[in-house]
Amino acid sequence: MIKFNHVYKIYEKDIKALDDLSFSVEKGEFVFLTGPSGAGKTTVFNLLYREDIPDMGTILVENSDIAHLARSRVPYYRRRIGFVFQDFKLLFDRSIFDNIALPLVLTSTAPEFIYKTVNDAIKRIGLEGREDVDPWHLSGGEKQKVALARAVILNPPFIMADEPTGNLDEENAWQIMTMLDELNRAGTTVMVASHNRDIVTRMGKRVIRLERGKAVE
Ligand SMILES: Nc1ncnc2c1ncn2[C@@H]1O[C@H](COP(=O)(O)OP(=O)(O)OP(=O)(O)O)[C@@H](O)[C@H]1O
Ligand SMILES: [Mg+2]
Repeated sequence: MIKFNHVYKIYEKDIKALDDLSFSVEKGEFVFLTGPSGAGKTTVFNLLYREDIPDMGTILVENSDIAHLARSRVPYYRRRIGFVFQDFKLLFDRSIFDNIALPLVLTSTAPEFIYKTVNDAIKRIGLEGREDVDPWHLSGGEKQKVALARAVILNPPFIMADEPTGNLDEENAWQIMTMLDELNRAGTTVMVASHNRDIVTRMGKRVIRLERGKAVE
């Protein structure tokens, strides 16, 4: 499903964020991306989300080279990816309901369908009754659950979560990992960047370890 082929990403001042990185992820897999701060984990996700393109090498997603995607196709490409950003990227002036509904609204689905789908998602993350609250009033764990609910509202075949348990306590971290695991069991391909050794070990999934932009394991 995903194939990085000798990918280099070099930022100014010769910072090699990715340095000849090759790996692949099969459809239906659950893979952790680990490694120290600055190893290149977020860079991998940004390239996969087509926010940027490699300086050298190719990235194939479902056998097409995403660097060659026309700009007009990028929004359609992104609809197939649920991206849980490292910093949530929630809209803080909108309610929880509106945040989760956003991808559905952008794809112009019928209002009754949006209403039902979003309310079901809110129930699943345990925030029933708080639909109209804005994200300022949520704890870190609750924000992370809203970000995850929004990322998966269009049922994407592929989810990438960047440090989804970064600032969470053990219980919330575990709830997030369980949600990702359930989505994976239902057939979704999942890639999770994480520093949390304990979680990575307990989940028992394949690990791609990055160090200075290279895969070391
Ligand atoms: N837009 C950018 N401009 C310049 N340098 C960048 C940019 N984005 C990332 N880098 C550099 O690329 C390297 C990899 O960064 P990246 O954010 O991918 O690391 P990471 O593994 O996600 O780290 P963390 O665990 O702290 O989130 C770092 O040295 C970083 O400073
Ligand atoms: Mg990062």
